[in-house]
Amino acid sequence: MNTDLSLLQPYPFEKLAVLLGNLNPPKELEHISLGIGEPKHPAPSLVTDVLRQSVDLVANYPTTKGSQELREAIADWCTRRFRLQAASLTADNHVLPVMGTREAIFAFTQCAVERKPGALVFSPDPFYQIYEGAAYLAGAEPYFMPTLEENGFIPDYDAIPEAIWQRCELLFVCSPNNPSGAVHSREQLIKLIELADKYDFILASDECYSEIYFDEANPPVGLLEVCQQIGRHDYKNCVVFHSLSKRSNLPGLRSGFIAGDAALMKPFLLYRTYHGCAMPIQVQKGSVAAWNDEAHVQQNREQYRLKFAAVLEILAPVMDVKMPDASFYLWAKTPIDDDKFTAGLFEQQHLTVLPGRYLSRETTDGLYPGSGYVRMALVATVEECVEAAWRIRRYIESL
Ligand SMILES: Cc1ncc(COP(=O)(O)O)c(C=O)c1O
Repeated sequence: MNTDLSLLQPYPFEKLAVLLGNLNPPKELEHISLGIGEPKHPAPSLVTDVLRQSVDLVANYPTTKGSQELREAIADWCTRRFRLQAASLTADNHVLPVMGTREAIFAFTQCAVERKPGALVFSPDPFYQIYEGAAYLAGAEPYFMPTLEENGFIPDYDAIPEAIWQRCELLFVCSPNNPSGAVHSREQLIKLIELADKYDFILASDECYSEIYFDEANPPVGLLEVCQQIGRHDYKNCVVFHSLSKRSNLPGLRSGFIAGDAALMKPFLLYRTYHGCAMPIQVQKGSVAAWNDEAHVQQNREQYRLKFAAVLEILAPVMDVKMPDASFYLWAKTPIDDDKFTAGLFEQQHLTVLPGRYLSRETTDGLYPGSGYVRMALVATVEECVEAAWRIRRYIESL
């Protein structure tokens, strides 16, 4: 077997299961999970109707490139959402459907890494763990950039030594960030594009939370948008990942896309042909319906707004917790160690959150950038999130 497999760490939820495994929560309290970032709002019927109507299409093989209709829907959505110049991002050359961004992030890394000696894949820390595993299996090493409160939870790109930049082959931006919700600014993205040119690496922006924001007039800025604004009409060395999982409450559909530099899309399509990850035709049709509709996404945001307002009002008197820039996560400081906090909360209140250190790696000074925080996914109903907030408050008051 590939010896690099031994470098893969257990997923955060496996660590969580071990932490909570032998505890006895109060049986009279129904379990509430704020642990997994799986949207719980209903899937939009405009998508499920299409899926039902097109189920017989399972009789046909799909193509890896996806239908023209789907790629056009994706290119049109990007053009509307990121105010791109008409026809600068084309269905033919700049977008590919993917079976959720997880597989695409992993697969793209396998293509993007050149495997030069000392090759590095840059990742924020705390992070979405696929960045790390994808780097190892592509024959590179991950280079973790701590995202700390003092820097607004954005990596301190100025602190990275020149010799490290020279080894960078691929840099992951996660904006809006999981777990902090922090959004990179236009200026920060421009700086990264300049660095990508200077050190010749690929910039991969994971934007799967980009549609979960709170101010309808101010959606998070995206990498494609910034490319346009600075006249980089070929999106050179830039790609973005988007998903219907969070935007449209369709995590089980497994549908998203990658878009950007045509010179990167072409070899990636070749790779995908061998990898065998063509999207089933009925999923493509359902995805077209989802990308073409914004009303359900606005309703979705409205529900998150209600939840954040209600939960923050309850937690603010007892916890250091703020409204994120975007996403459905609260990234809150814990009054005791985050793993002890998580275990105690489960044992006393039958409620699950995720310790920040499980999303993080130990630095050379023995610290975990995510420690001292827990991640709470406000994915359940408003009522359940409010009940969860009261339980957390009671737990903190009991400490
Ligand atoms: C930062 C980030 N990127 C990508 C994904 C993958 O999402 P999907 O594969 O459902 O598109 C997730 C899922 O939680 C995530 O948090």
